[in-house]
Amino acid sequence: MTPKLPSTSKLNEEQLLELARKYSFRSRIDTNAIAGPIMVWGRGSVVRDVNGKEYLDFNSGQMCGALGHNHPRIVQALQESCETLIHSHMSMFNDREIILASRLAEITPEGMDRSMFLTSGSDSNEAAMAIAKRFTGGYEFASPASSFHGMNDSTRAVTFSGWHEGYGPYAPGHYPIMAPYEYRCTFCKDRGGCDYSCLNTSFELLDVQADGQLAGVITEPLFSAGGVIDLPDGWLRELKRKCEERGALLIVDEAQTGLAKLGTMWGFEHEGVVPDIFTISKHFGGGVAISAVITTDEIEEKVSATGLVVGHSHSNDPMPCNAAIASIDIILEEVLVDVAQRIGAYWRGHLERLAAKHEIIGDVRGRGLLQGIELVTDRFSRKPAYQQGKAIGRMCLENGLILSVRRNGSVFRFVPPFTTTEAQLDQAADILDHAISNVI
Ligand SMILES: Cc1ncc(COP(=O)(O)O)c(C=O)c1O
Repeated sequence: MTPKLPSTSKLNEEQLLELARKYSFRSRIDTNAIAGPIMVWGRGSVVRDVNGKEYLDFNSGQMCGALGHNHPRIVQALQESCETLIHSHMSMFNDREIILASRLAEITPEGMDRSMFLTSGSDSNEAAMAIAKRFTGGYEFASPASSFHGMNDSTRAVTFSGWHEGYGPYAPGHYPIMAPYEYRCTFCKDRGGCDYSCLNTSFELLDVQADGQLAGVITEPLFSAGGVIDLPDGWLRELKRKCEERGALLIVDEAQTGLAKLGTMWGFEHEGVVPDIFTISKHFGGGVAISAVITTDEIEEKVSATGLVVGHSHSNDPMPCNAAIASIDIILEEVLVDVAQRIGAYWRGHLERLAAKHEIIGDVRGRGLLQGIELVTDRFSRKPAYQQGKAIGRMCLENGLILSVRRNGSVFRFVPPFTTTEAQLDQAADILDHAISNVI
């Protein structure tokens, strides 16, 4: 039997990897390798590995650390819960969840006042889908082909940007619709912009395929994991109209885009659309796991009357709820909507300057703290530069910049925390510039 090591022992990287090789289950997104860096510390926009090397974290952890790692207000909220109540009975109210629900209503659109709290983005989307089923009486859902909504069975069934194949059979009635990926769209390539042909065609197919009443359409308001793909103007409005025509609910997944990240409180605001249900997670808890489903009185009343039950052992736990209250304080008091606009504009300047310098950057897109570049072998063919992208991403990491490499190497996604300074943005741009220059 392997001797037990004290959990507090300071092990070096090789010792930790040796343990991981024996005991860790490999099931991560993007890599199956058991390799460093192994993170041990973080403050603001910087994380440090077990060797003491520092990195600019332009992935904000798993996007959940966007308020800045170990924000003092979040730390304080967690300490308060340690003094009061960490966990509570799921079927009894606790004061933190009630306060959180009322504070959240301060920043949600008018009429979207009702919220329930869960743990992950996946379970908030699963709950939203359950609500849509009970509200409409239907069971079928559609979602764009670039979508990512989670990895439990019901959300994986509507996740079409990858990680879908090989986990079936799914429950029947989950359909992809075309994503409005303007940079690569064959419908509108010669038309000077999106005329929603992709959406119209998708619904033509959906209508003939569906078994009955469509329960809902779930979408991100900017496809993040799918490749930092912005929605064309009016697309979300048109989608909402199509849902209304069919009596289906529009669910917007704001896991990556909500709570000021894009320079607006909500991603859907950009389109002037209010969905029927929306979900939030990621930096909602300032690094602690909590998600929410938000909807109207009408929907809440109808589905509650049907006896809807959704929840898990840790739903509404006071500790993550207290962290989320602190995160709302931070978002409002530090005016993070403005911060995202300011950081976003400064970073965009860097990305555009790099695009002017390096032909391999075919497109620059995204908003606020969620921006990306698409790498192509040449700008005419727009052939994705998969291998070069992977090599550039590796070199950035070696040189201390964490970013997310999407679409098999051809898209880089940058999510710097709200705490990122101009000097850190300059440093990140230098690392990226250097890596591109060395690889191509
Ligand atoms: C848009 C979106 N929705 C849902 C999820 C799933 O969230 P979680 O990993 O917390 O289950 C993610 C995760 O990256 C996401 O990006």
